[in-house]
Amino acid sequence: MNLEPKVAEQFFLSLNAAWKNLGLYSPTHPAATAAFKNLSNAFEKMLGDRERITFGLLRGMLLLNGVPLTSKPDLFRALVTRLQNSEIQGVTLLKGCTLEELRHFAEVLGQNVKGVEVEQELKRREVTHILLVKLVQEGTGEERQTEAVDERVGTGAIYSRALQTIRKVFQETRLGKVPSLGEVQRTVEDLVGSILKGKHSLMALTMIKSYDEYLFNHSVNVGILSMTLGESLGLDVTALRELGLGALLHDVGKINIPETIIRAPRKLTEEEWEIVKRHPEDGVKILEKMGVQTEIALRVTKEHHIDFDGRGYPRLGPEDQPHAYSMVVHVADTYDAMTTVRPYQGPADPNQAISRMKKLAGTAFNPLTLDSFVDMLGIYPPGTAVRLTSAEIAVVTRPGTEDTSRPWVRIVQDQEGKAVDGDEISLMEWDSEGEDYARSIVIAFDPVIRRIDVPAVLQGKDLTPVG
Ligand SMILES: [Fe+2]
Ligand SMILES: [Fe+2]
Repeated sequence: MNLEPKVAEQFFLSLNAAWKNLGLYSPTHPAATAAFKNLSNAFEKMLGDRERITFGLLRGMLLLNGVPLTSKPDLFRALVTRLQNSEIQGVTLLKGCTLEELRHFAEVLGQNVKGVEVEQELKRREVTHILLVKLVQEGTGEERQTEAVDERVGTGAIYSRALQTIRKVFQETRLGKVPSLGEVQRTVEDLVGSILKGKHSLMALTMIKSYDEYLFNHSVNVGILSMTLGESLGLDVTALRELGLGALLHDVGKINIPETIIRAPRKLTEEEWEIVKRHPEDGVKILEKMGVQTEIALRVTKEHHIDFDGRGYPRLGPEDQPHAYSMVVHVADTYDAMTTVRPYQGPADPNQAISRMKKLAGTAFNPLTLDSFVDMLGIYPPGTAVRLTSAEIAVVTRPGTEDTSRPWVRIVQDQEGKAVDGDEISLMEWDSEGEDYARSIVIAFDPVIRRIDVPAVLQGKDLTPVG
């Protein structure tokens, strides 16, 4: 159902009026109070029985629930300018948004804060019904993106649904059935939607490793890391979907490798190694049976073990080069494998894995792809468990914006080792004397060691997505 243009205009008019009043009066002045009451009424009217309203800029155009607002450019100019100045692309107002929250939103947008700071400031003010979002490209449907917004505390659910889909793909292939492509595509859609909304919470879940179900977790992790890296590299939604499909299914050909080889806690024999090396091409055959036709998905599956310099397997023709997207999956695949306990290796922590991978820049990995990946992860990738100078244990929730060695964390254990459900805090915070940082990181470690439930921690009550 489309929004009545008049109703929408009324809302934006009220928002302009509210801004004007904020500049003139104190927030408690009757004129300001009345302006916010009007704004809140206009919002309720515009929302009607919808769950959310999303507006924002896409290619310089103001969109409201996916529809361009072109009729009264003057009316919207103030809004466009404020969004641009604050470097905000889109805003979603959820059902339940209060007058107070609208007031905070108007105030924050009136201040000289930008991008991620706006998000932090809203969070500090406990605004939970107004989310900053990225609008997706034309033709991809604004609906999908806002659906993902509804899942804002549900990245754990998206992750486990993806895991379920992959498990089913492997199981059905093993039974000689052809798995449903539609189901995998829906999973890719969910993951892309969540990544476009804010990449850190889903990325953090890739720190979940499973020994018993290694292949399933690994497939989902490589899918998420590849798409997140793809997003950082500026790929459009269509490309992200194709990349994601190939990345999620990259190891499906492993279904033909006997368990005894997969779990062998030793170096493989020559013959065993030959069997392993068949999995990329076997994977392509399975994808084709499923009806995958897109070149990117097929190529990343085939080429995920081919190095930047052309080495690896399967062998390419002398003139051939691996696809740029295969290089993305190659990085994500290697990183996830390195940071997981395997029959033949203990896990590397993220920093160890990165420093080993950096030594292979230019040979195994495209140096530019690897650089972007390292930037994306930050020094302490989200989902990393850390011990703090305060003797508390915390989980990194998102990278620090000012200082990468000082990310946002959530405390999960106090000094005595007792489990706590702490708020999300920034390690940029000073101690009470203002002389030093309140907390710093002593060491990072694998959350599994302390049996920390990362999804539960990341979905804690006040964790808001950051774009
Ligand atoms: Fe593989
Ligand atoms: Fe893999």
